[in-house]
Amino acid sequence: MTKDEIVERIKSVLIDEERIAKRVAELGKQIEQDYAGKCPVVVAILKGSIIFYGDLVRKINLPMRFDTMAVSSYGSGTVSSGNVKIKKDLSKDISGDDVLLIEDIIDSGNTMKALTALLEHRGAKSIKVCSFLDKPSRRTTDFEADYVGYSIPDEFVIGYGLDYDEKYRNLPYVGVLEITD
Ligand code: IMP
Ligand code: MG
Repeated sequence: MTKDEIVERIKSVLIDEERIAKRVAELGKQIEQDYAGKCPVVVAILKGSIIFYGDLVRKINLPMRFDTMAVSSYGSGTVSSGNVKIKKDLSKDISGDDVLLIEDIIDSGNTMKALTALLEHRGAKSIKVCSFLDKPSRRTTDFEADYVGYSIPDEFVIGYGLDYDEKYRNLPYVGVLEITD
């Protein structure tokens, strides 16, 4: 094989559609109970959380506002509110609001640590994070999500919104990707 031939292969299915649906329904119920009497601003962190977001919000029987944000983290190191680059901001001010961020996966924790600090600085009344997946063994910060769908081992996963090079987001399951070059 020549050097520029990269082969990607879906090695295994880590979480199938049935398990995803079951866990998403459980998370929705839990969020519904925790936010009873409130009208949270539920924020999809683009693009990875799109599929999870669409499934999850339909399992939360509460009034809510939708919003979206696209961010990228500046990587590791000491994280402050200055360490997150906002590629697309919220459409409305969130001061005084209960904000629930919906993320695809927490890896180092840099992105969510910086983003929650930023939204706190903007005066949100409360900020919680619901992440579909969590890779606790990869954490380099002290960030923990309030709600987690599944904790997974340190493998690169794709599908159900998660990508490799912008591909595989539309797979209905979570798979482990093997990349060889
Ligand atoms: P971190 O927690 O700031 O390190 O970054 C989390 C982000 O890294 C996620 O929102 C994903 O975009 C990306 N990411 C981390 N692990 C994976 C993976 O296994 N598959 C796809 N994207 C991942
Ligand atoms: Mg992401």
